[in-house]
Amino acid sequence: MQFNIINIPEVESTNSYAKQLIENGSMHEGDVISTRYQRNGKGQGSNSWESEHGSNLLISIILEPNMIPASQQFVLTQLISLAVVDLIKGYVFDEEVKIKWPNDIYVNNKKIAGLLFQNFVKGNEIEYSIVGIGINVNQKKYYSEAPNPISIFHFSDESTDLNLLQDKLLEDIGKNYENYKLNQDYQLLKSKYILNLYRYNEWSTYSDGKNFFQGKIIDVDGFGRLTLELKNDNEKKFGFKEIEFIN
Ligand code: BTN
Repeated sequence: MQFNIINIPEVESTNSYAKQLIENGSMHEGDVISTRYQRNGKGQGSNSWESEHGSNLLISIILEPNMIPASQQFVLTQLISLAVVDLIKGYVFDEEVKIKWPNDIYVNNKKIAGLLFQNFVKGNEIEYSIVGIGINVNQKKYYSEAPNPISIFHFSDESTDLNLLQDKLLEDIGKNYENYKLNQDYQLLKSKYILNLYRYNEWSTYSDGKNFFQGKIIDVDGFGRLTLELKNDNEKKFGFKEIEFIN
């Protein structure tokens, strides 16, 4: 896959910039907006994304994933999350790198990267997708409300070259994306995702916004819903925002 890097030293948010390109019709698949500083970096929901000047990887990739039906948008989440996990594994040896469902990247119990997808759907097609990726790299301290951030810096003696990291990330994403385009092997993708899932098959505490309960993640369905086994032997599915990991 061919990537076209658009470097902007400082921007409101790479996702917002990518959205403007799409709205103006002036984008191509593989365009990558890359910056060293966002004035208003966006996290999931109404959260913001903290990143000090020049320390972290901040990019948005524009894709036209027409091989993925809109009803299977979660495929894209899985492809990209796995590429980020593989990348981070190459930087933090001997630590456990996992995907906290649906798409937070964790090292042990701390968040090292976040993904923000904005899909533009027409009928049952994803016309465009903006894949926003923030990886905490050389930042030493965090000041925002983010509960448990960590950077690659904490696992390495020297600072990490952001350009090299970006090249590797794009290579991994390109590979996953092209492979899936060719093979469309959902079972393989799903099994890799499950293998890398944080707290898979472990009893832990969750909340559904009203109650705390014990559950064990046993599956993720094609819509991206998480299936938990409960202590009463029942199974229950949860969509995004319907469940919170407690500890
Ligand atoms: C999350 O809340 O976990 C998602 C964080 C996504 C952050 C990245 S940084 C690059 C891109 N531009 C944004 O404004 N957000 C995403």
